[in-house]
Amino acid sequence: MSQVIVVNGPNLGRLGKREPATYGSTSYEELVALATQWGAQLGLEVSVRQSDDETQLVHWMHEAVDQGLHVVLNPAAFTHYSYALRDACAMVTSEGLTLVEVHLTNPHAREEFRATSVISAVATGTIAGFGVDSYRLALQAVATRVG
Ligand code: DQA
Repeated sequence: MSQVIVVNGPNLGRLGKREPATYGSTSYEELVALATQWGAQLGLEVSVRQSDDETQLVHWMHEAVDQGLHVVLNPAAFTHYSYALRDACAMVTSEGLTLVEVHLTNPHAREEFRATSVISAVATGTIAGFGVDSYRLALQAVATRVG
């Protein structure tokens, strides 16, 4: 069974409480349960993680490379400026692993600074703007690619 880590960046642990008009009312705990369930339905073994710490996120990308894990990544604010995370993501996709960048919101419809993603160019693809359903679509994309 293919293994996928669903990695969430800063402030996403506050999902449900954080600006619900923007990010929705689904809690982080509910997202964990949903992503795990969607993965199981797609034949994927899913581990969902969250950290506010850039170092931790980089280390999870290293783990993906070392263990052959596919990645669904919501880099949150690091999307817009973390070259360290971008370089770590590049290692994942250059190994032939699938990495889907996800966003709850559509960053292009928001403040100008959100229109830049330093991650997109090294991701396999990006899904944004569908709320928590972005994660389901991303897992579907992984399942379709990896079989
Ligand atoms: C986000 C969009 C980012 O711009 C923001 O910093 C986030 C969440 C999203 O899922 O829509 O924290 O990645």
